[in-house]
Order: sequence, then structure tokens, then C-alpha cells
Amino acid sequence: MMSTNQGEELRSQPDAALTTMNAVRLHSAQGPAGLVYEQIPVPGPGPGEVLVRVRAAAITRDELDWPVDRLPAIPSYEFSGVVARLGAGVSDLATGDEVFALSPFDRDGAAAEYILVPAHVLAPKPHNLDYTQSAAIPLAALSAWQGLFAHGGLTAGQRVLIHGAAGGVGSFAVQLARQRGAEVIGTTSAAGLEMARKAGAGQVIDYTVTPFEQIVGDVDLVFDTAGGERLARSHQVIRTGGRLVSVAAVPSQESAAARGIQAIFFVVSPNRAQLIEIGKLADEGLLQPSIDQVFDLADARAAFEHSLHPHRPGKIVLRVSNTPHH
Ligand SMILES: NC(=O)c1ccc[n+]([C@@H]2O[C@H](COP(=O)([O-])OP(=O)(O)OC[C@H]3O[C@@H](n4cnc5c(N)ncnc54)[C@H](OP(=O)(O)O)[C@@H]3O)[C@@H](O)[C@H]2O)c1
Repeated sequence: MMSTNQGEELRSQPDAALTTMNAVRLHSAQGPAGLVYEQIPVPGPGPGEVLVRVRAAAITRDELDWPVDRLPAIPSYEFSGVVARLGAGVSDLATGDEVFALSPFDRDGAAAEYILVPAHVLAPKPHNLDYTQSAAIPLAALSAWQGLFAHGGLTAGQRVLIHGAAGGVGSFAVQLARQRGAEVIGTTSAAGLEMARKAGAGQVIDYTVTPFEQIVGDVDLVFDTAGGERLARSHQVIRTGGRLVSVAAVPSQESAAARGIQAIFFVVSPNRAQLIEIGKLADEGLLQPSIDQVFDLADARAAFEHSLHPHRPGKIVLRVSNTPHH
């Protein structure tokens, strides 16, 4: 972080020779097949914006369905990197600051050598984590945080059932719920059993073997990251007055009304204050990203294809080149 004077000095410097960058863009709504690795102009920061040199960017299954009304679009909405340029009015950041963030969904993402973001979404990158680990945190951990605490109202001593407990969002949800003092039950396929236990779930159910509703009941909250059958069968395991929160699909309101519970679907939003708390937990070793695989930016199509494999635990990260094209 820096003083306003230093910031003014940097802003008044002439532009460096940054003109083009390597980026991955979705050109057609065809999933991974619609991605093109190409060179495009480096965007310049407007007032309140910051240009960040991306070091690593993480991806989320199904995210290529999100920007189809604004193509071509750069995917990946969570990243770590280094502040490269400041727009007018940005006084609490300096070039060279190491940052991480969830970027807004209505603009280009981080699968590129540079990303332009509003300054207010950036938080200091955790010191004790590398760029790859840090990039795997913001979208998934903020989804878990907002799902459990803001929408789910989870408090110490309550019981929560987390579907997809070894997934990108789910493994953070297990860790955060446990730290909050909740009793955590997770569902996962066999591939994620060990990861869900390690993350802190007191009970882990392989839902492909045992229907969870036969052994779980009266929970205060179900946090769903899987959708489908697991979401559809969840209403019945929640106590009257409890909540069903999903990031994966919209839950049935009819079933919720019939059971006397609240059913909520939400879209995660950038939140610097929450991300700072999450970063502190990561620095203290209390929150760990689980990384499935790392791909080079140029191999983003393979990374997105990999994300679609069912029963695949952990996050997928794109490593962005250290030598940007000028
Ligand atoms: N609304 C929002 O703001 C928001 C935020 C974040 C994520 N999301 C969405 O929420 C979902 C979960 O995100 P995530 O990052 O946790 O994803 P993820 O790790 O890929 O998936 C979570 C779990 O879902 C199951 N799964 C994997 N592939 C699947 C497939 N093709 N179809 C059905 N289930 C599958 C797996 O669990 P099992 O092994 O247990 O089957 C996996 O561990 C994704 O659809 C993502 O796009 C939405």
C-alpha cells in the first residue's frame, strides 16, 4: 500500500510499451471448443480501475455458460497477480503490490496476462501462499463464505450438510463451517472421501453408495454445490425453519414452502472485506486450497475440458507466463 503522493507520481508516468497481451477468449457459446488463445490489446485503467499483471487464474466448472451474451469474453474470475497500473483516483494501492481477487462477472476475466478490475475488489495476496494457491481461493472461498454465513446464517453449534464436499466450493465450505464451530456432514463421490475428511467434515457420506437422506435429518442448513438429485432430495433433511442454499442450481420453492424452510440460490459477489478475512485464515494455515491440476494459459481449452469430468475434486488453475508480450 502507498501514499497518495506516490500514487500521483506513478499515474503521471508515461505509458510503458505495453500494447498487446496473450489472452484466452470465448468466441462462441460452445464450451471449451469456443475458446481461442490469441493476442489482444492490453486495456488501460479508467478512473477507479487497476490493471493487474496476472500470475495465476483459476477456473470454475460451467463458467463458460455465463458470459455468452457478451462475446468474445475472457473467462476465469479469480486470480492472483501484481498491480501494474493505477487509474485516476486509486490511492490505496501501488504498482508492485501483490493482490488476489474475485473479479466481477460482467466484464473480461483473468485468463490473460493482464486483467482490468475495479480497485475495490482487490485484497492483499496471502503472504504464505504462492500465486497458484492464492488464485484458487477467491471465487470458491467467497462462495462458501457467503453461502454459509450471509445466506445460510450458520452459527456455532449448528449442523450443516454440504454437498460436493471435496469440490472447489465445497472443500472451502467444510473448512469454514468447521472453524465456525458447526457440526459438518459432507456428501461426495468416492474420489473425494479423503479430501472431505481432511478438510474437517465429521461425517462423510459417499452418496453414490448410501442415500444421504436415509442417515441424515434435522440439519439447520444444507449448502449445495452439486445441484441435480442431491439438491432435489435435500428439503426433507432440513429442520423446520432451516435453510437450503445452493450455488449450483435453483432449489424448488414449492418443496421449501411445504417443509417450512427457506430455499435460496445466489450468485457470489466480490467483497474485499470478506476476502481479507479469508486471506488471513489462509496465512494462518486455517484455510487451504485444494488444487487438482495446473495448466499453462495456452492450454486453457484442455483445462476447461478437464473441469467437466464428473467427480473431480479440487480447483483447476491456469499458470500465466512470467514474460508478458510487449
Ligand atoms: N452461483 C454462484 O455464484 C456460483 C459460485 C461458484 C460456483 N458455482 C457453480 O457451482 C457449481 C460448483 O462449483 P465448484 O467450483 O465447487 O465445482 P466443482 O468442484 O467442479 O464441483 C463440485 C462437485 O460437484 C460434483 N460434480 C463434478 N462434476 C460434475 C458434473 N459434471 N455434474 C454434476 N456434478 C458434478 C462433484 O462432486 P461429487 O464427486 O461429490 O459428485 C464435485 O466435487 C458449479 O456448477 C459452478 O459453476 C456457482
